[in-house]
Amino acid sequence: MTAARTLTSPQMAALRQILQRYRGQGGAYLLPCLHEAQAVTGWLDADTCTEISRALNVPLVQVHEVIEFYTLFYNEPVGRRIVRVCDDPPCFLAGSSEIVRACARQLGVDEKGGTSSDGRVTLEIHPCLGRCEQAPFLMIDDDAHGHVQPAQIPDLLGEGA
Ligand code: FES
Repeated sequence: MTAARTLTSPQMAALRQILQRYRGQGGAYLLPCLHEAQAVTGWLDADTCTEISRALNVPLVQVHEVIEFYTLFYNEPVGRRIVRVCDDPPCFLAGSSEIVRACARQLGVDEKGGTSSDGRVTLEIHPCLGRCEQAPFLMIDDDAHGHVQPAQIPDLLGEGA
């Protein structure tokens, strides 16, 4: 289930421009449209999904299927920054559990993931991020950090996260 809309007027205007550019383009453009629309507020609300469906002329169920399938799309509010800690086997064996614990402690969220009480940062426990050779590996938004040690977490999640 997708949460309700909370867009400001400038965000609505930005979304309208995006939808106008993609109008009538079809399902082949669904992914780039979703990425651009999500960049407006960090997540995709129910009304935005409906408007994307109409603009691209793709079934609404297809919009939701894509959002549910890809872990980088969100249908609920998330923090302004996203910390993704990989816990697939190579990272797990290299100590990702300690990294997760350190992140959760620093952010005051559950070790299963969650958003800090000030809405600033969301911690996600993530499947492989494609950098297994740098395990344990995490990303803070688009910034990659490999061979991370728990002692680094306060600095990594300090002012920048
Ligand atoms: S298993 Fe962690 S990045 Fe691939």
